[in-house]
Amino acid sequence: MPDYDESRANFSWDEVEKAFSWYETGQVNMAYEAIDRHAETWRKNKAALYYSDDERDETYTFQDMKFLSNQFGNVLRRIGVEKGDRVFLFLPRSPELYVSMMGMLKIGAIAGPLFEAFMEQAVRDRLENSEAKVLMTTPSLVDRVPYNELPHLETIILVGDGKAPEDDQDIQFYRYEDEMKNASRHLDIEWVDREDGMILHYTSGSTGKPKGVLHVHNAMIQQYQTAKWIMDLKEDDIFWCTADPGWVTGTSYGIFGPWLNGTSNLVRGGRFSPEDWYGTIEKYQVSVWLSAPTAFRKLMAAGEAVTENFDLNSLRHVLSVGEPLNAEVVHWGMNAYNVRIHDHWWMTETGGVVIANYPSMPMKPGSMGKPFPGVEAAILDEAGNQLPPGQMGKLCIKAGWPSMLRTVWNNEERFNQYFPFEGWFDSGDLASRDEDGYFWFQGRDDDVITTSGERVGPFEVESKLVEHAAVAEAAVIGKPDPVRGHIIKAFVALKDGYTKNDDLQEELKQFVKKGLAAHAAPREVEIRDFLPKTRSGKIMRRVLKAWELDLPTGDLSTMEK
Ligand code: WTA
Repeated sequence: MPDYDESRANFSWDEVEKAFSWYETGQVNMAYEAIDRHAETWRKNKAALYYSDDERDETYTFQDMKFLSNQFGNVLRRIGVEKGDRVFLFLPRSPELYVSMMGMLKIGAIAGPLFEAFMEQAVRDRLENSEAKVLMTTPSLVDRVPYNELPHLETIILVGDGKAPEDDQDIQFYRYEDEMKNASRHLDIEWVDREDGMILHYTSGSTGKPKGVLHVHNAMIQQYQTAKWIMDLKEDDIFWCTADPGWVTGTSYGIFGPWLNGTSNLVRGGRFSPEDWYGTIEKYQVSVWLSAPTAFRKLMAAGEAVTENFDLNSLRHVLSVGEPLNAEVVHWGMNAYNVRIHDHWWMTETGGVVIANYPSMPMKPGSMGKPFPGVEAAILDEAGNQLPPGQMGKLCIKAGWPSMLRTVWNNEERFNQYFPFEGWFDSGDLASRDEDGYFWFQGRDDDVITTSGERVGPFEVESKLVEHAAVAEAAVIGKPDPVRGHIIKAFVALKDGYTKNDDLQEELKQFVKKGLAAHAAPREVEIRDFLPKTRSGKIMRRVLKAWELDLPTGDLSTMEK
């Protein structure tokens, strides 16, 4: 039986505090609650992490995780990391990533996970803004780190084999394996305040560089309870969250939520293929599976016949997040997996799920579900007034849920922009609510693009494009795509002396791919004589989008003729 049913709707967040050891001891630390607390009970020999990729196949118990993260905490302390310092992770999925993240939190450092596909510009922007002191990476990824140009970066810890860069006067290099060998398994945990910084996730908006969204240890309250009620985690579950820890889903639910509940996490490294994914479910007898619509659509495209080659009967509960989950996919899932796919909604800034379809609730395929108990969501108009059911408006959340972002790193002004109406957080999404209280996603209220479940800011891509010698101006939009949700389409005006040709279009795609990240690269590049602009010179993405999609262009009075 699912733990949650609607009779619990009057629940208050205060009740959740009793689930944590700090309720009794007053000593707070996320990593202690996620790992050590279980290692002190019969769960010490329970698997915390099953990890596999094409080369490795390993299991770590809660006790293993406790000792390894203690060791890593000692490594960091020895090299001078203190509470509040930013320690970044630029690593492929690996047990070391999970161990070291826990080690960082144990000494009160703020963890900054970076998606392994980032290229130099993306890495630089994030390390620069956060003023990171230590970076963990691999001998091959370190090529993408401009460490000599990052004045705050002091130390790089390299994980795994491979040639290390030459010693450098500005940077001290260490080898993870060597340092761990000499580190003690015993660590004095840094007890923190619930409001102390824990993790910094960079995410995209429609303007400016990516923003550092700061979450604090208190987020555990929401992550614990949502993992319990929405992911429906139970003692003997094997939980597989397919998201990379470079994105918020990969930490809030790829790490924290399940471990806070003492659940075994499965992590699979490497690339996606339907056979591999189904094989993984079969091999580990995955019971709860959390993924993204783009993955479900790819699995759907691979066909139901593939599912018949695997035993998927272990699946009890399946969830989807990150972009709209088409009703068609929900229906397909009922046939192919014999379970419902549960859509739910949240974002980097909310730190945990705020709207969901619970296992016990009647589902309306295509809807994101209802607000989590203790969360108030509303549809507001431009003036901040609540709109009646059926009308589309801004999806806003009443400020104050436990895992709400606490600031935007080094940018208080940007943080304040999330709260245009007294007491309400504006998500930037458009949605409507129906008479029964279900929320329906309608689109973004700004130019942020979600492609294959990953959030991309047009400004970052445009900035990269204009670095190319041939490009005078660039504008980027999301263009609907049946599998990826949206693809990135770039419109480009060339500098004098350059002419349009297919090679150049391809070159521009590669330029973004190599400079920024593959998922941020435009799949289509259109070269135009001019880009529509306002009289003050701002490129009008919405007009390009309307032209592209044959939609009404709206008010063109500000457009320069
Ligand atoms: C979108 C990922 C439709 C939305 C957890 C949001 C969704 C952005 C859904 C956040 C959903 C997330 N249906 N759209 N169920 N869930 N989104 O920060 O536009 O990477 O604002 O967090 O993804 O993306 P982020």
